[in-house]
Amino acid sequence: MSSKNSTEIPESVLTRIRELREEIHHHDRLYYLKDQPEVSDSVYDQLFKELQDLEERFPNLVNPDSPTQRVAGVPLDKFEKVQHEYPMLSLDSHVKKEDVQAFDQRVRRELDVEMVEYTVEPKYDGLSVELVYDSGNFIRGSTRGDGRIGENITMNLRTIRALPLQLLNVSAVPSQLVIRSEVYIPLKDFHALNQRLTEEGEEPFANPRNAAAGSLRQLDSRLTASRPLTITCYDLKLQQGDRPSSHWDAVSKIGEWGLPIPEHRQRCRSIDEVMAFHVDMESQRDQLPFEIDGIVVKVDRYDWQQALGEKSRSPRWAMAFKFPPRKEMTKVHRIMVSVGRTGALTPIAMLNPVEIGGVTVSRASLHNIDEVARKDIRPGDTVKVERAGDVIPDVVERIDIPGEVRAEPFTPPTACPVCQSHTIQEGPILYCTGQTVCPAQLKGALELFASKGALNIDGLGKKTVAQLVDQGFVKDLADFYTLTKDQLLSLEGFAEKSATQLLAGIEKSKQVLLSRFIFGLGIRNVGVHIAQVLARHFGSLARLRKAEKEKLQQIHEIGPEIAASVDSFFQEPQNLSVLQRMEELGVTVEELDTVKISTDQPLAGKIFVLTGTLEGFTRPEAKQKVESLGGRVTSSVSKQTDYVVAGTEPGSKLDKAQALGLTVLDEAGFSALLVENVSSAS
Ligand code: IVH
Repeated sequence: MSSKNSTEIPESVLTRIRELREEIHHHDRLYYLKDQPEVSDSVYDQLFKELQDLEERFPNLVNPDSPTQRVAGVPLDKFEKVQHEYPMLSLDSHVKKEDVQAFDQRVRRELDVEMVEYTVEPKYDGLSVELVYDSGNFIRGSTRGDGRIGENITMNLRTIRALPLQLLNVSAVPSQLVIRSEVYIPLKDFHALNQRLTEEGEEPFANPRNAAAGSLRQLDSRLTASRPLTITCYDLKLQQGDRPSSHWDAVSKIGEWGLPIPEHRQRCRSIDEVMAFHVDMESQRDQLPFEIDGIVVKVDRYDWQQALGEKSRSPRWAMAFKFPPRKEMTKVHRIMVSVGRTGALTPIAMLNPVEIGGVTVSRASLHNIDEVARKDIRPGDTVKVERAGDVIPDVVERIDIPGEVRAEPFTPPTACPVCQSHTIQEGPILYCTGQTVCPAQLKGALELFASKGALNIDGLGKKTVAQLVDQGFVKDLADFYTLTKDQLLSLEGFAEKSATQLLAGIEKSKQVLLSRFIFGLGIRNVGVHIAQVLARHFGSLARLRKAEKEKLQQIHEIGPEIAASVDSFFQEPQNLSVLQRMEELGVTVEELDTVKISTDQPLAGKIFVLTGTLEGFTRPEAKQKVESLGGRVTSSVSKQTDYVVAGTEPGSKLDKAQALGLTVLDEAGFSALLVENVSSAS
């Protein structure tokens, strides 16, 4: 077939391709924006297939805006950095009515007017992104990053079906548009995604926001495409030609161009109407198909926004009016104890099921035995349970019911509920002493060993590990390397292909980097970072094994606790015999290229302390970022601290840092430091 030259393409094909693209765009809009499809899935699929076939026959006609081109096949090595067209600000947030009234008073005083019109919108709990359209075509999208520089996630955004690659009435759209939007996952899809992940043996996400963030920041856009992301647009930043005179009109325009906009927005003529919208949204909150954590209040007129101006991190013309965390009362019917990978016993309150924010809650963590004692929670008690956006709820407090006869206080178990080994207490935490004799600890240890950060064995998730242990096929880490195809085929959900693949994955894992192997051993107190420190220092497993406790402690970043854990791990004859068996079964622990590691770690040796709330990162994320660059996060400020990162509402750590004259970074400074060092590491 000669279709290389566009002059040979029949006119009818050109027309049909144009028609198909328009029709598919139209159905996408009805389906993803309006939730009102006109045609069945199979009709849609036929149109899609017809377009794909035509584009395959005439590859010259494929263009990036075609609906067939949403997903690229090749993963990226890393995200490029993008300078935002305009800084991406965040919002000051308030929960108290009085603070919102004070905001209104300030705004009116500064503008010297009696009445201000506000636009109010739901505050979507997702991830903010910048979208850039050139001549109506989506050309670039980026994460917020430090507000000035973000990451180029264009490929991933293109997979979001609610995001038009080409705007409607292109000829009437201004030539360059910068739009702020929020990417999120609707609740129904979030629950389905978590269920799928759990079934596949993967860790479920704690909340829809984390799921959206985890899905969007993927180097392989095919993975992003498999996640149910959607988007809503709430701000127009830059435009050539006539600019609307108000935020309301700007968002209406965005909607007219075919982009999704918030459904529940409203124009308010007074702060009382804002209050009423807040009450109304809070009462609807649990029925909404997506998670919101408050409302956003914006001065509507653009000239007034401009007059009020901006602070370094947030505009003075807008604020987030947040909802308080959701709480419900219910009864504890039992206190159960679960056993984790490290053998830590966690008391869990089993609750009479109660709906909190559209989620049925039937268990809540009581964290540790000290907390059960402090809150004095006993079976039969009535308690207040809080779900602050996260899926795992918390027991906030016990409600005293006068005259109620209470059960006996909870007695910490002296034996592990899973393997009956005796328990020991370290600080507030009880541990099972059973180690790998305990199926709960064994499963946890095996999962860690196979996990991405360790030996990265494909297809060996939670579910498979549980089956392997329950069937008695795997009793320690070395047993992975003795598995046979027949054993795998006897497990539920395994067929010839999956069994072969898993065996290949296990075989591949036999060549492993030292740091990954050390991490995979699951030594208490040895996370990814400490595993790297140890690997870098010793260079081989044999040398680490022989290291004395005193020698270990002399290593920078290794304290007495870690040294003791490492030492006792290698003292344990059972661990040594597992290591020996692994070696006999062909596991080769490669030595680390120490030179590469040290230059790869631009923040090596730097100590960070985090205080207050960061907008763009959760604590674990911030910690992980620092550690991935070789730095370390500790909990208390001292003269040894190199950087104190202060978010909003910082605690006394900031005062201490200032008293000691330490370097204090705000979130923007922290992000900039990470960005700089990421580039120097790459
Ligand atoms: S406007 C300069 N509107 O909330 C104003 N933000 O805490 C920029 N958000 O970073 C934000 N829904 O990720 C705005 N309707 C909405 C929003 C919204 C959610 C997020 C956004 C922002 C964060 C600020």
